[in-house]
Amino acid sequence: MSFAPRPFPILLLSLLTTFFSLCSAEIRSSSVRSDWRPIIPFDEFGFTHKGRLELNVSKIALSDQPNPNPDLSKVGFFLCTRDSWIHVFQQLEEGDVRCALDSNLVKRVYTFDSLKGGHEFSTVFSETDADQYTLLFANCLQQVKVSMDVKSAMYNLEGKENRRDYLSAGKTILPRVYFFFSLGLRCSCRFVDLRAL
Ligand SMILES: *[C@@H]1O[C@H](CO)[C@@H](O)[C@H](O)[C@H]1NC(C)=O
Repeated sequence: MSFAPRPFPILLLSLLTTFFSLCSAEIRSSSVRSDWRPIIPFDEFGFTHKGRLELNVSKIALSDQPNPNPDLSKVGFFLCTRDSWIHVFQQLEEGDVRCALDSNLVKRVYTFDSLKGGHEFSTVFSETDADQYTLLFANCLQQVKVSMDVKSAMYNLEGKENRRDYLSAGKTILPRVYFFFSLGLRCSCRFVDLRAL
């Protein structure tokens, strides 16, 4: 009866895992073909208070539309911080929002209602709240599959001349993480040695 496992949390859990296992890349090209996933993660970057996202998307096609007038404001790209994603996830699970694009915790970059029948767009989005952001795509239309070619660049503007810096702001903490990781490894090796004696 009511003991059937709910598939929704499992789906969201897998979305979360993809979210956290994303490697960071600063300029990325990817193609999406007949994809039904409700959320597609693209890229992750640490913005300073002068962050920019350049997004060029072409060959956009939606297939299998049961509805002749789909609400395309429910399909599009957004930025979300890691910390906010947990809360967006809760909002979705609790039914406070039905689409990640409707959440007040995400930054909408482009929704497909602005395409007005076109098949491509280019946009530049400025971000002034420094944080680690992920670029994601949401498709909240059930049964609609999306195809498109996506080119994205995420960078920070540096100095007076506004040079482009493609090195993520978060990267500076990585050496410390590796240091602790190596400490951990050394400790576990010691442990193994002692037991062998
Ligand atoms: C996006 O398109 C513009 C105009 O064609 C180009 O200058 C820019 O380099 C492109 N950016 C990416 C990330 O492909």
